[in-house]
Amino acid sequence: MSFPEPAAYRDLIGGISEVLFTAEQIQTRVRELGAVISRDYEGCRPLLIGVLKGVFPFMADLIRSITIPCEVDFIAISSYSAETRTQGMVRLQKDLDAPIEGRHVLFVEDVIDTGLTLNYVLRSLRSREPATLHVCAMFDKGPRRLVRIPIHYKGFDLPDRFVVGYGLDYRELYRNLPFVGLLKGDVLQREEAQKKGSPK
Ligand code: IMP
Ligand code: MG
Repeated sequence: MSFPEPAAYRDLIGGISEVLFTAEQIQTRVRELGAVISRDYEGCRPLLIGVLKGVFPFMADLIRSITIPCEVDFIAISSYSAETRTQGMVRLQKDLDAPIEGRHVLFVEDVIDTGLTLNYVLRSLRSREPATLHVCAMFDKGPRRLVRIPIHYKGFDLPDRFVVGYGLDYRELYRNLPFVGLLKGDVLQREEAQKKGSPK
């Protein structure tokens, strides 16, 4: 699929200081991942599971690059608070539609940062006894990891910076960008200042 040029997203591109991965680079990498996954899971009918909402563009592109029969399911989670999240606690807002016992599960994630959320989710999935459970992440912020997460399929490494686009949001915006870029520092600062000044 081809997308509009970055400049066409004029009300969003102003918040981006640098494009890290173009839409073309992302689409090419997703096709490569899809080809490898199709080969590795031949005859296995994998179940791809993602966490809403950030993963949906990647999931949509990935499943269309997978050429073998596969199924998709989603969960939705929310953090109780920043503090409980560091303890690896998240609230499940939407569970899987079906049991995964005996299934070949491929967990698909947009970005792995500290790994705390994913660690919690993987523990929960593992307790449901899938036949196999592997991880496919489009972006990996390796240096920020607090818990070890084995990544079987990886799109790109990211620097320790806040990025937006391709599903990744800042306050629910920027998810629709087909490329990934660094959010300008002053956008973050302005938002933080507004937050402090606004009534609770
Ligand atoms: P973790 O538990 O720290 O690995 O959190 C990962 C989640 O944090 C991702 O699924 C994203 O929702 C969010 N996240 C982490 N880094 C970024 C970023 O740079 N931009 C937008 N969202 C991010
Ligand atoms: Mg996510």
